[in-house]
Order: sequence, then structure tokens, then C-alpha cells
Amino acid sequence: MPSADTDIVQALRDADLIDTDQPVFQPLAGGVSCDVWKVDTPSGPIVVKRPLPQLRVAAEWTAPVERGVSEVRWLQRARAVDPSIAPKVLAELSVGHAFAMEFLPDCPVWKDELVAGRVDIGFAKQVGRGIAAVHSATANRDEDRDAFRNDEMFRALRVDPFLFYVAEQEAELAPALHAIANDLMARKIALVHGDISPKNILVSGDDPVFIDAECAVYGDPAFDLAFCITHLLLKAVWLDDERLKQSATAMVDAYRAGIDWETPEALLLRAGRLTGALLLARVEGKSPAPYLTDTEQKNIVREQARALILDALPIDDLVTQWKRTFA
Ligand SMILES: Nc1ncnc2c1ncn2[C@@H]1O[C@H](COP(=O)(O)OP(=O)(O)OP(=O)(O)O)[C@@H](O)[C@H]1O
Ligand SMILES: [Mg+2]
Repeated sequence: MPSADTDIVQALRDADLIDTDQPVFQPLAGGVSCDVWKVDTPSGPIVVKRPLPQLRVAAEWTAPVERGVSEVRWLQRARAVDPSIAPKVLAELSVGHAFAMEFLPDCPVWKDELVAGRVDIGFAKQVGRGIAAVHSATANRDEDRDAFRNDEMFRALRVDPFLFYVAEQEAELAPALHAIANDLMARKIALVHGDISPKNILVSGDDPVFIDAECAVYGDPAFDLAFCITHLLLKAVWLDDERLKQSATAMVDAYRAGIDWETPEALLLRAGRLTGALLLARVEGKSPAPYLTDTEQKNIVREQARALILDALPIDDLVTQWKRTFA
């Protein structure tokens, strides 16, 4: 274990989570933005997560480590809505905004399930339901608005890299992308997770467990729906699998059924506009989908995304009309 981590060991001892100087730290997969370890403790395994100041992506991308606090708060707030949808936070540690949470055994990452061809449309529905539950419980609540005033962080991690960065490369689309970005930043409606993607959802039997909430902000709930649907549509192209489109439809339908804070049509249209922009960002932005390397597949996404940015569709229609191939 590198010597810098002695701080973490001490912090775990201070929190009474471990009673040894030499715990075994087992790195967990992922880790673009954080160090994540499984650590054995006398009362069973836990997860320790510490935000990195510099993200491990190709383009230079720094982010304040205070986002660890946003994540802890989101996990706690989500559990107050429904304890099954987020892991329990065990302690906030005194170093670098690291924290400890319960380790969920036998819970694969949803992305791995999808890539292995295990596509459960009922599970996608549960994801839509879970996201909507957090949005509904936090919509128009001053307490949540005050607890998640993370606009600067959200701008640095989401709006700049996914929207403004792409606008710089694409003169023709820039006005539309600026309008989408400004509208997104202006809306303060509910608690947004900010990184709902299949790689941040664990599969606990039939139930989704959401993790990795570093981008949490009080903002536009349409963002979470758009972000996750973007991932499913990209994978539908990559894997050429119709069931991924069906999963997207099931997720949107379940989410829609949970919208009780505003007119569903308005939200679905905003989500559709955002999805167009995020799809393009995953081909041309700072954080491209790593699996989408085939030029033809990239063009399928790029062409549809460009059209959607200029002429938005509600997200339900967008999903229905999405093409996996040009054939
Ligand atoms: N509570 C948990 N129980 C079991 N496994 C977990 C838990 N939290 C995280 N993991 C595992 O660790 C991986 C990384 O966690 P997480 O997504 O929070 O880190 P990250 O560094 O922010 O990742 P990335 O930036 O790559 O999305 C997850 O994909 C999952 O496999
Ligand atoms: Mg993650």
C-alpha cells in the first residue's frame, strides 16, 4: 500500500472501523475519478472511496475533491427516500473527503450485465422508478435546495465538458448547445444525481442500487433521465441490440409515471434535448464512450445527435425513433 494511504488507515481507525495498522486494501474496478477500495474489517468488508484531484481521462480534467461530500449527502438523502436504492454511509473520513460505505456483496455492475447480454427490461423499469422517486421526494424543497448548492461543481464536471466543450468544436450547433446548457443551469427543481449510468448502478437482485453521486446538485431532474438513456442508446448501437432500446423505453415509461412535480410533457422534452447533446458529447466531448471506436457506429450516433440538437424530440419519441444501424 502506498505510504500516502497511511492517512486513510488512521482515519479508518479513528472512525472505529478497523483495529489494525495493516488492513488489506483491494482496489475495486472503475476509478476514473476516485480511489475505491474494498477493505476487510472485523465486522465484514466495507468500501472506502477517496476522490482524486485529477481525473484519469485522456483530456486534462481536474475537479475539486469536495465532491466527496456531495456524494455522501446524496447517498444519505436517497436512502431516506428508499433505503434499498443506495449503500449505507458508514463514516466520513477526516482525509481528502474520503468516506466509507457498506460493501454490497454479489451485486454486479449493471453495465457488465448488459455487455454480457443479460438484458432485463424489468430492471430498467426499476431504474426509472428509483430515479423518479428521489426527484419526486426532493422536488421544490428548500431544505434539499440548500443542501445541494453544488452548481460550480456541476458546471465543472458536467456542463463544461459535455456541453460547452462540444459547442467549441461545432460552430453550427453552438447556439443550440449554449441554450441547452444555460437552460440546464437555470433550473432548480429537484435533487439530481448527475452520473446515472449503467456503470454506476449495482444489480441487487431485482433492485437497482445507485452509487457514485459526486456530481449531485439541486437542478433539472431531466438531466438524470437523459444521462442514463444516452448510455443505453449508445450501447444499443455498439452491441446492436434491440433489447437495449426496449430497456430505454421501459425506463422512460416508469420514470414518467413518477413525475408528480411538473407537467410530464415539459420534462420529457427537456430530457430529449439534453439527450441529443449528451449523445454528441459521448462521441466528440472530453469523456467519449470508450467502447464506441468503430467509425461507422460513431457516425450513426453523430448524425442522429446533430439532428436532435437542432430539432428536439421528447425523450420517449427520441427513443422510439433511435436507429441502431443505418440499414
Ligand atoms: N458499496 C459498494 N459495494 C460494492 N461494490 C462497490 C460499492 N461501491 C463501489 N463499488 C465498486 O467499485 C466500483 C467503482 O466505484 P465508483 O463508481 O463509486 O467509483 P468511481 O471512481 O467514481 O468510478 P468511475 O469514475 O469509474 O465511475 C464500482 O463500479 C463497483 O464495482
Ligand atoms: Mg463509477
